[in-house]
Amino acid sequence: MTSIVERTDRTDRTGPSAMALDLRSVGKTFGTGQNAVTALRSIDLRVGPGEFLCLLGASGCGKSTLLNLVAGLDGATTGEVVLGTARPSFMFQEPALLPWLTARRNVELPLRLAGQGRRQRRERAEELLALVRLEGQGDKRPHELSGGMRQRVALARALAAATSAGTEGDLPGMLLMDEPFAALDAITRDVLQGELLRVWQATGTTVLFVTHDVREAIRLAQRVVLLSSRPGTVVGEWRVGGGREELHTEITGRLRQVITSHAA
Ligand SMILES: Nc1ncnc2c1ncn2[C@@H]1O[C@H](COP(=O)(O)OP(=O)(O)O)[C@@H](O)[C@H]1O
Ligand SMILES: [Mg+2]
Repeated sequence: MTSIVERTDRTDRTGPSAMALDLRSVGKTFGTGQNAVTALRSIDLRVGPGEFLCLLGASGCGKSTLLNLVAGLDGATTGEVVLGTARPSFMFQEPALLPWLTARRNVELPLRLAGQGRRQRRERAEELLALVRLEGQGDKRPHELSGGMRQRVALARALAAATSAGTEGDLPGMLLMDEPFAALDAITRDVLQGELLRVWQATGTTVLFVTHDVREAIRLAQRVVLLSSRPGTVVGEWRVGGGREELHTEITGRLRQVITSHAA
């Protein structure tokens, strides 16, 4: 009997089973001995190319830790993180723009780091600024822009990074978003959620979006994955279709259960 084991389906990045991201029994423990904190335990999660997935959970459950592992900013203690896209780009709660650069130059920065010429990156930055509805605002510096506008610049920069990683024909990018709208007022947040959906539809980028807000998760995602706390592990998963109100009630109920069982 032969004992050749082929693992083609999960690693094939071009076939119909191509994955943007595959997390296999991923765990993360900070520190050692008595001070060890297990932030994540046996996370299994697959994200399809172009999918919009929201990772939902109470604060401290390991959402940022998980995004850091996907971004390669930190290493998993156990399991494997397999990326089927180009190096992902990150967007945080704070826009983290360079204050001495104009909006345009902030967007150009990842293109410059990728070695693009001046003219090419300028054109691309203008395109992206238009995509996030900041046409004509490129010469302003961050302090001249509102919080919502600054987050639009950050989104344009993340898109620049997601699409500059390689040459043409390279793997598409992925956006990792860590509660990017949490610091905005409700009205601005609502507008930017709409904008993000529009940009996602226009670019086909894979999005892994972290939030603690059930309503935000349901509005944005095609699929919502719920994490429990300490250690964070997947305890629920929903496809978002019609019936958003029922889904909101169901997910909120499950989230409450998870939080209270943890506190007990
Ligand atoms: N660098 C670190 N060292 C030690 N513990 C950490 C570190 N980063 C995160 N943690 C712990 O891991 C858990 C998950 O944190 P985090 O991923 O930031 O949660 P979330 O983003 O869901 O609020 C928390 O208990 C936190 O204190
Ligand atoms: Mg966090």
